[in-house]
Amino acid sequence: MHNKILDGKILAEKLNSELKELIKKAIEETGKHPKLATILVGNDPASQVYVNIKHKTCQAVGIDSIIVELEKDISKEELLYEIDKLNKDSTIHGILLQIPLPEKLKVATAEFQEKISPLKDADGLNPVNRGKLFDYNEELAPCTPKGIIALLENYNIGLKGKDTVIINRSNLVGKPLIFLLLKRNATVSICHTSTKDIDRYIKNADILIVAVSKPKFITKKRIKEGVVIIDVGTNRIDGRLCGDVDFEDVFEKCSSITPSPGGVGPLTVHFLLQNTFTAYKKQLNLTKM
Ligand SMILES: NC(=O)c1ccc[n+]([C@@H]2O[C@H](COP(=O)([O-])OP(=O)(O)OC[C@H]3O[C@@H](n4cnc5c(N)ncnc54)[C@H](OP(=O)(O)O)[C@@H]3O)[C@@H](O)[C@H]2O)c1
Repeated sequence: MHNKILDGKILAEKLNSELKELIKKAIEETGKHPKLATILVGNDPASQVYVNIKHKTCQAVGIDSIIVELEKDISKEELLYEIDKLNKDSTIHGILLQIPLPEKLKVATAEFQEKISPLKDADGLNPVNRGKLFDYNEELAPCTPKGIIALLENYNIGLKGKDTVIINRSNLVGKPLIFLLLKRNATVSICHTSTKDIDRYIKNADILIVAVSKPKFITKKRIKEGVVIIDVGTNRIDGRLCGDVDFEDVFEKCSSITPSPGGVGPLTVHFLLQNTFTAYKKQLNLTKM
């Protein structure tokens, strides 16, 4: 694939249909269906939308999916108990805790992620799987960074030696992405709110990955001619979704760019399904598939 627009929707459709075939074969062989449990605490509208998309996409590829809906004022102990119940349920192969959690529980997010069995960790955020990533084992790595790599690789954008700049240092995006990029021999810089002279990094980037949650954060005058731009940001303005990059402004100057929406998002969902299938195979000892 080589296009100026790195279309995540088209790529995710292709990868989802390949995955569907593999899942079908695995079910024929084992008689067991892979199953994902998504825990949704409270009624944040954006989270409800994301959870429904994941639920529907699971069903489309042959993964059983349940949504465990919990009240927003559930206690920490109750949530830990619910996670433990799913850990012990042998029909569940993947567990996803939808974040952000309600304000009262947010501070304990890492504790909940740690409670999810590393074998069922569909989001790749348990410390065991984070640690494996340190050794370049990306079997159960977080889904958005995997999606970014899939976009770059499937559109034949080489990473070796490239000056790759990530503007984000979160556990979900920037930090795991460092290892996936280093493994592929990119030269990686991480920028954040304390970065001194961030424009120097942006201007130097061969590949620029942006996830700051600020519409039009990246404009033509900030980038180098020919840069590849991955826009991870998801913002809502007047009911319309947009990314962090002024798409129309930068389009002529960059060599490739993801739309947002329609770029990284569909691949994030794909890798949630892929991770669930990986977790299922590990639990059923299906090493050859
Ligand atoms: N499409 C998808 O599948 C997908 C998946 C995940 C996330 N997202 C989107 O990606 C964005 C980031 O998500 P997140 O969970 O990683 O959010 P987050 O934890 O709030 O991280 C935002 C990052 O951006 C940095 N940042 C913010 N303003 C900046 C500025 N002016 N200059 C430099 N750095 C700045 C922050 O720096 P500090 O660390 O210094 O605060 C932080 O590292 C959101 O819009 C989210 O919706 C999309």
